[in-house]
Amino acid sequence: MSAAQLDLSWIGGQSERRLRKRRPGIERLPWGTITPSSFEPAHLSEARAVWTNAVFTEYASAAAFSAFSSACLESGAPIDLTATIADCAVDELAHVELASRVLAELGGAAPFEVDLETVSPAPTPGARAILRAAEIAITTSCVGETLSLPALRHGRASTQHPLANAVIARLLADEGPHARVGFTFLAWAEDRITAGEREHLANIALDAIAAYASLWQSTDCACPKTALTASVDDDYRAGLRRAVVGHIARPLEKLGIELDAARLATLL
Ligand SMILES: [Fe+2]
Ligand SMILES: [Fe+2]
Repeated sequence: MSAAQLDLSWIGGQSERRLRKRRPGIERLPWGTITPSSFEPAHLSEARAVWTNAVFTEYASAAAFSAFSSACLESGAPIDLTATIADCAVDELAHVELASRVLAELGGAAPFEVDLETVSPAPTPGARAILRAAEIAITTSCVGETLSLPALRHGRASTQHPLANAVIARLLADEGPHARVGFTFLAWAEDRITAGEREHLANIALDAIAAYASLWQSTDCACPKTALTASVDDDYRAGLRRAVVGHIARPLEKLGIELDAARLATLL
């Protein structure tokens, strides 16, 4: 399969009823309150691009937590922890629905080409399961989800529309536990991985942080602030930097995964 426009579907019926039971309250959000014609065309198209990207990001997170839970099963991780990680994948699929419904109210997806066959994370080929799980724990949970928290908080504070605000609040409520579960896995794995593997994991963490660094390094964001998207400012960038140091690097160090200080400093 090659890249094609992101196009997701929904089957309804029993599947939808089961999901609703497990993730109640979605219907109570203020749906039907976005009037696309009330926005400037440029702002509307920016909002559609942002929420299309959000749909894909949530979808990719679902794939990542699924891969994480499979690697947990293959490494004999504690059952309750593995179940929690698998449940995070369902949270992310619920987030896909929320973001997709906002997008539908905005008039539909912006152009977004993607090859879904490559959506899952690609841990080191041939690595044993516990190391693959630890890699995904770091990239998806410890780094990705941890950085999504200040990003979503900022988005919520700067978004004026009640539906966008309610949806972001709902996402935020799940992302905290998503950010913690990776560290819980690494605490369980701490005595089961070698010093060499810990060093490898520290490099994986730095690579993952580097992939997000443009968010706080760039000072020339062209994104306009609209009622449906957030502006980018210095406080937001400072919050991301604080999260990297205080909520990623330090907790990883406590688990024996020590990030190279010089490389970390170049990323901040
Ligand atoms: Fe999410
Ligand atoms: Fe998440």
